[in-house]
Amino acid sequence: MCGIIGCVSKRNVSEIIINGLKRLEYRGYDSAGLAVIPDSGHKKSFHFKKTAGKISALETLINHADFTGTIGIGHTRWATHGIPAEKNAHPHFSCDKEVVVVHNGIIENYEELKEGLLKRGHKFSSDTDTEVVAHLLEEYIRKYSPLGSLQRVTRILTGSFALGVIFLKEPQTLYGARCNSPLIIGAGDGENFIASDVPAVLPYTRKIIYIDEGQVVRLTADKINIFGFDGHPHRALPTEIKWDIKDAEKGGYPHFMLKEIFEQPSAVESSISYYINSKGCGEFKSLANLKERIKKINRIVITACGTAWHAGLVGKYALEELCRVPVEVSIASEFRYGNPVLDNHTLFVAISQSGETADTLAALREAKCAKALTIALCNVVGSSITREADSTVYTYAGPEISVASTKAYTCQISVLLLFAVYLARLLGNLSSKKEKQLLKEIKTIPGKLKTVLKSSDEIRSFAHKYKNAPNFMYIARRYNFPNAYEGALKLKEISYTHAEGYGAGEMKHGPLALVDNTFPTVTIAVKSLVYEKMLSNIQEIKARRGIIIAVATEGDEYIKHMADDIIYVPETQEMFSPLLTVLPLQLLAYHTAVAKGRNVDQPRNLAKSVTVE
Ligand code: G6P
Repeated sequence: MCGIIGCVSKRNVSEIIINGLKRLEYRGYDSAGLAVIPDSGHKKSFHFKKTAGKISALETLINHADFTGTIGIGHTRWATHGIPAEKNAHPHFSCDKEVVVVHNGIIENYEELKEGLLKRGHKFSSDTDTEVVAHLLEEYIRKYSPLGSLQRVTRILTGSFALGVIFLKEPQTLYGARCNSPLIIGAGDGENFIASDVPAVLPYTRKIIYIDEGQVVRLTADKINIFGFDGHPHRALPTEIKWDIKDAEKGGYPHFMLKEIFEQPSAVESSISYYINSKGCGEFKSLANLKERIKKINRIVITACGTAWHAGLVGKYALEELCRVPVEVSIASEFRYGNPVLDNHTLFVAISQSGETADTLAALREAKCAKALTIALCNVVGSSITREADSTVYTYAGPEISVASTKAYTCQISVLLLFAVYLARLLGNLSSKKEKQLLKEIKTIPGKLKTVLKSSDEIRSFAHKYKNAPNFMYIARRYNFPNAYEGALKLKEISYTHAEGYGAGEMKHGPLALVDNTFPTVTIAVKSLVYEKMLSNIQEIKARRGIIIAVATEGDEYIKHMADDIIYVPETQEMFSPLLTVLPLQLLAYHTAVAKGRNVDQPRNLAKSVTVE
């Protein structure tokens, strides 16, 4: 939700800021802006541009040769307060134009603060919550230093904020502050950065400092200082980021989503191999110190949002089957207001690709308060959720840029399945022989994913055939049931086609009434414990002349009698099959969205990182 970047350097920063914003555009893309302090001119003032629309619209307004300066900040917006319009685009200024601010988050007490500021004569130019920050700083700067002013203002704001601030009074210094919204420092060579996320600064530095909650940072081109909101200095060392810059680029693919779909064999391979040791056994090094506590758990609660929640649902089947421990999977936004029952025998797992989703983070905090043992399953090193959980188990998907999550999902499922095997061993519910057999099978998955990807062209033809259908149903059972939700979600979010995911057995309790000869149902009917049941459910749809697109196991000839179109996936154990069956669903959504001319990587109204409630 909104991306911010700031840079202080010895060279021109306008291009750096625009490039950084492009890498943050997944966070929001309804308006954008930037401000720099130009090098020339005897009286310093901010040079700025802002516009409704995407970064490309902002870029057309800027001629980098004229728009030069060695310090600047930029913003890409996902509207919360105030419609997407030029006046609401960031940066925002104080009345005297001496202070400029970019912000990600929500200032919850802004109305009350604005009322006071209006009474004291401030004039507002936007409908945003952010603008109060610039006006408050204008008041404090009369009495305090820029650092002192920012520290004082952060203490009166409530809600969530990552701020980038420049004071004209101190034209070579960039400030940042963080409270419940992500912000990192990029430590460069003769230049320093703040940004909402690592990819924004990756072309310039791999040295990253994760700013903590309640910290204010002061950067010049050569120096980084970190303080608490209370003014106390803090120390932090940079982490060297391993991600390759190419990982955050399209690499010849037309869309990030397609690139990320095709990266799944290697992403899953990396995520799996990390947790299998040379003896072929599961090993979770980050949990080594927690083993004794883990052995005492009597319940698992998994919490997540969106696609990560679907991964949690797959995890439940494996954890309950292998560990015989009850597992509850909760949507994070529901969990936190549901008065959940938790205690110190509960293992709480927060799943999040970004590690910044506000509801998941809030649920984690709730679990910690209740003394549950908390584990983050996360893709982004150093993100908020990883820093607050008792321990973190990482997925190794690499940066995921597309709003629609694909490779993070299959990596989350892979690691959850491995975790289920590991936990079952730890709890004494699984023999070493069975463990080895399961791990041997999961190692075959990356190769099988490559096979599934070969169906992309065929799936494109199905997408063209069905692209005008206004509604889709996705049905499945057991381990694949969460993929029915996931397939429907993918189609909805990027092609804007209405779709629903259902447990196949539920069709006769209502949804069957929708079926006629124009209504497509995507069925996951791979060889499994519930294969025969799935066939019966397909028959029930066929008997009503419904259209069936089946995801089936290679070599299944029988299903040809029932399905209008079939996408085959290689055979595997049912537990691992969701890893394979979701790929055709991702590709069907992708090709449908392309066929309908949608903006695949930036679907309307959405953003990748949901850092507001
Ligand atoms: C957004 C994204 C989804 C993602 C969800 C949870 O809605 O568009 O792709 O699944 O947030 O994000 P997280 O980073 O917590 O996994």
